[in-house]
Amino acid sequence: MSDAGLETSDRVTEREVLLGLTTECLGRNIAYFYSTDSTNTQAARLAGGGAPEGTLVIAESQTAGRGRLGRKWESPPGVNLYFTLILRPEIPPANAPMITLAAGAALAKAVRALYNLPAAIKWPNDMLIEFKKCAGILTEMNAEASRIRHVLLGVGVDVNMTEDMFPEEIRDISTSIYIARGEKANRAELLRRFLSEMEALYDNIVSGEKEIVLDAWRSLSCTLGRRVTVKGLWGERTGTATDIDASGGLVIEDGGGKRETVISGDLFFD
Ligand code: BTN
Repeated sequence: MSDAGLETSDRVTEREVLLGLTTECLGRNIAYFYSTDSTNTQAARLAGGGAPEGTLVIAESQTAGRGRLGRKWESPPGVNLYFTLILRPEIPPANAPMITLAAGAALAKAVRALYNLPAAIKWPNDMLIEFKKCAGILTEMNAEASRIRHVLLGVGVDVNMTEDMFPEEIRDISTSIYIARGEKANRAELLRRFLSEMEALYDNIVSGEKEIVLDAWRSLSCTLGRRVTVKGLWGERTGTATDIDASGGLVIEDGGGKRETVISGDLFFD
């Protein structure tokens, strides 16, 4: 596919991303694609071939972008961010959900800092702006019982999508940085800021400081303290979301003070 339609000033090639990148590890090695099936799928291939910790796989567009629960992720060229980080943390596999929590917090922090927008996290890992979805995270892990081979942290951010670019069925519940801000955003700058916020939280995870990451997630959440319904294949629960635990589970309390932790599903605000 040709990339002739993109303005050179707003690509997310290796050169654009590295210019001004402050991280030590994340994003230092980059695999750039104008078009690929899915950056998570590409990253799995590269990880299998030995790609180093922190490798960033990034594409201008995806032909088979994947969301959670087998959903499709809209991935038109040149307007958004679609990327996957290959991570090889030396932590127990049970702690891997911390990486997804950290990514949600890092993204919300980056969007708040750069654009002064009220970005917040909806459990489990959507970034919302004014209660509309602006980004999602798809984490996939390859592990043995006691050792992680690699984690693929896939992030999709709707950066410069206009309203008419969203499929009609999700138009009402979706937004982009551009829609929220009224001005186009520089994708490479947002990516660099995310990588630096993410590296700090990732270092906390690897050095065993889980509480720092959980506190960051809590402070950026728009989920805690609200009445919610979580629907999963296991059924559904309604109550007040009161906390997040270290395995990424959401603690829900019903009116009678009964607490339950849900670990998967779709969350709806009541
Ligand atoms: C979700 O909210 O359902 C998660 C969406 C994750 C989308 C990103 S885009 C980059 C990476 N590659 C994929 O195929 N999916 C993730």
